[in-house]
Amino acid sequence: MTAKTVPVDTFDLVIFGGTGDLALRKLLPGLFRRYAIGQIPEDSRIIGVARDPLSDQAYRERVGQALAAVVQADASLQPRLAAFLDRLGYRALDATKDAGWHEFADQLLAQGERIRVFYLSTSPGLFVAICNRLQAHGLNRGSARVVIEKPIGKDSASAAVINDAVGSAFSESRIFRIDHYLGKETVQNLMALRFANILFEPLWNSNYIDHVQITVAETVGLEKRAGYYDTSGALRDMVQNHLLQLLCMVAMEPPAAMEADAVRDEKLKVLRALRPIGAEEAAQMTVRGQYRAGASNGRAVPGYLDELGRNDSRIETFVALKAEVDNWRWAGVPFYLRTGKRLAERVSEIVIAFRPVPHSIFEPSAGPVVANKLVMRLQPDEGVKLWLMIKDPGPGGLRLQHVPLDMSFAEAFGVHQPEAYERLLMDVVRGNPTLFMRRDEVEAAWNWIDPILAAWEGVRDAPKPYTAGSWGPSAAVALIERDGRTWHEDSA
Ligand code: BG6
Repeated sequence: MTAKTVPVDTFDLVIFGGTGDLALRKLLPGLFRRYAIGQIPEDSRIIGVARDPLSDQAYRERVGQALAAVVQADASLQPRLAAFLDRLGYRALDATKDAGWHEFADQLLAQGERIRVFYLSTSPGLFVAICNRLQAHGLNRGSARVVIEKPIGKDSASAAVINDAVGSAFSESRIFRIDHYLGKETVQNLMALRFANILFEPLWNSNYIDHVQITVAETVGLEKRAGYYDTSGALRDMVQNHLLQLLCMVAMEPPAAMEADAVRDEKLKVLRALRPIGAEEAAQMTVRGQYRAGASNGRAVPGYLDELGRNDSRIETFVALKAEVDNWRWAGVPFYLRTGKRLAERVSEIVIAFRPVPHSIFEPSAGPVVANKLVMRLQPDEGVKLWLMIKDPGPGGLRLQHVPLDMSFAEAFGVHQPEAYERLLMDVVRGNPTLFMRRDEVEAAWNWIDPILAAWEGVRDAPKPYTAGSWGPSAAVALIERDGRTWHEDSA
């Protein structure tokens, strides 16, 4: 089966932070793949912007080196590499100074009316300055749009400042707040599973679902991002955005149509229905951890404080928490979320744990009747498993077995699953904001996170230590086991 590629309109994409890690590791490789399969028209241009003086040629060489790994992984892309690099240009600009902006604006506007995308892959401290200059030079007009990366603030108040500044240059429909988790294949599939099948929706409520688990576990540590990470921590870096967005996709009501505002209205209702976790509840409902030295992927790794080179950081590299959605559908159904760095495995998954059958008709010798689970794996090995009870095959007494109906997307479809950024970048060019966060969603997410942060700040204890390569502090296990449940482990 092959995926159908619909070319987008010609565009100019300007990447602020064009020499940065995100641009070189995700954005440009994603654009290259889309170009190689013919989705990006030949007369489109991609312009990297950063402060270093670089020629177009030097920039192309730098990007070429970054793309070597992409080509190595898929040799069929090689013939398109030179032509892709030809689409690239470079501009040295400082967002805080006037120099060069006039010429830059002239260069872009000389093309006449075409789609212009400004991707702010910079520190959020520069968002305001960049938007002000784009506006001052008339680059926000026509069909121009802006993409902003997280972190959108450190709390509600700082998020409002960023949103106000970006909002004064671009109208809301032209602002694409990216959360790359929404571009992942399985997240899209969650919508398809829920809303394109009659099977699940009648069961998708507190009558049939016991609880939900969302795990985003990483094996990497600080990855040279100390400057950012140590002012953020896992709650701001992962929960405020990625995990809450996944929670919304599971919990939202069916939107009336697959339209941006219809979908985002429903997600917003979920965020607003999250029961607040304040100083009183935080000790019971949340666990923070910080990794110590241990082993990751078979090699010894230092602890967080050693990587950081300081021993006074109280920043959490792990969070587990129990969230509750106070509405009719989800009353009494806990959502257990956990995420962390330097955990045992890289795995992201959503587990819908159904209630057990009300009564077992089987003899005890048949074994326990285990409750059904629907497990959606985002990475690695994207796919869906539906855990069912069946009869153990063969003669003899009836014994039951818990087995997964297993659909691995790679095996089932055998096509390259586009990376989240590939899909989302093309959505920006098409002007489709469905998979991007609206201002009120970001604000509602911060409104729920703020009191947790405040509660943590108000207590003296440091995050709980855990060994690198483990599943986090034992308190995270206790968090769920206290309720008579366990974290899902894939045993098949
Ligand atoms: C980013 C976080 O948003 O997501 C990183 O800032 C994290 O800390 C990354 O490593 C995880 O993304 P993925 O797609 O690798 O799961």
